[in-house]
Amino acid sequence: MQSEPPERVPRRGLWSGQVGFIAATVGSAVGLGNVWRFPYMVGENGGGAFIVAYVASVLLLGAPLMMFELAAGRRYEGGVFGAFRAIAPRARFAGAVVAGVTFLILSYYSVIAGWTLGHAGIVGLGLEADFDAFAGSWASLALFVVTLFTATAIVLRGVTAGIESVARILMPTLAIMLVAMAVYALTLDGRSDALKFLFDPRFGVLAEPRVWAAAMGQAMFSLSVGSGVLVTYGAYMRRSTPIRDSTAMIGGADTAIAMIAGLAIFPIVFTFAVEPSEGIELAFDALPRMFGQLPMGRLVGTAFYVLLFFAAITSMISMMEATGASISDWTRWPRTKAVIVLALALLAVGGWAALSYSPAGLTLFGEPVLDQLDAAFGTFGLLVAGLATAVAIFWVGKQHDIADEIGAGAQGRAKSAIVFVGRYLVTGAIIVTLVASVIDAV
Ligand code: PHE
Repeated sequence: MQSEPPERVPRRGLWSGQVGFIAATVGSAVGLGNVWRFPYMVGENGGGAFIVAYVASVLLLGAPLMMFELAAGRRYEGGVFGAFRAIAPRARFAGAVVAGVTFLILSYYSVIAGWTLGHAGIVGLGLEADFDAFAGSWASLALFVVTLFTATAIVLRGVTAGIESVARILMPTLAIMLVAMAVYALTLDGRSDALKFLFDPRFGVLAEPRVWAAAMGQAMFSLSVGSGVLVTYGAYMRRSTPIRDSTAMIGGADTAIAMIAGLAIFPIVFTFAVEPSEGIELAFDALPRMFGQLPMGRLVGTAFYVLLFFAAITSMISMMEATGASISDWTRWPRTKAVIVLALALLAVGGWAALSYSPAGLTLFGEPVLDQLDAAFGTFGLLVAGLATAVAIFWVGKQHDIADEIGAGAQGRAKSAIVFVGRYLVTGAIIVTLVASVIDAV
């Protein structure tokens, strides 16, 4: 046995231990991606067969890249910008790409987070749910501002006192509420149709590259992989926290929550015989109306939007921390200044996104603006950022350092295997997915 190396003292903070680290990282991973995006992706891409492709994507791409990012963060310490700059000065450009994509995702994500809060109110008070009127209203803008303010306040309190302590409370609460909602939903008439839809795989769709591209993209989005969050959170990890086991727990928890969300939502959808493949409209237009007609619907509906809000806010703070850390790496500003400047920039970009969703600007080329932002940055942009990450870590960086950090020990074989997975499998999977998405888009 080797003696324990001394604990690291990172510049910006340190998780209290493995539990705190996992709570914060699961907080980042579990978000709108699980409860709002995953179910509609399942709906659009062939039901149960999509779940098969999704789990494969988590195992092949999401989890390995998560390990590499955490290791790179702990090894090179910094936001993506600083950590990649420490790998090699020119790799900082990759860091800038990643931070830029995450900023753009954060801008529309915060708007949707505001909607969740608004819908908790709408359903709770039993108001008429009219999504178009709501999304275009000043209320939607005001809720976005409140949400952004809340997230900023949490991030400003710091890594442990802010991010970690909030996640430690909200994540278990969310899990309990979601399980309760699934149990409730499974008593409804739509249950058997929902189970059939979710678990009866129509394997034919697995021959379509489009379905795989969607699954790979969703795995990255849902695990927060490629966004710089894991590099940033990895920098606050203690030496004693194991990277491999933690990745397994985070990936498992995130996938489980997405499945339970499917079990909570589809029975309701099928009870009302609604087409299950409507994007944003599903969560914010169809569901609120349905809650109004269900037994205990107001209570369940309010709880649903509150839990969506919890999911969203812990993901928002992770994106703020990641982007803020990169800004501070770049400008050498103190954390507080970097975060405040970031919040002001988000106010401008997100405010515009919120307003452009007014009834008049609702569609662009026939689709809602936010659906398009999500398709552009949440999927395509994130793939580009993931590629930049893989290139910085495995093609520019010293791959053996990363293998060491993951804990392959001194064993040459295990190390070479890790390097092979990173250099060829992960990088290759992202490139193939990118190509497939481009072909699909044109
Ligand atoms: N993983 C989050 C979700 O599922 C979204 C996210 C993406 C968070 C990228 C951080 C970085 O909603």
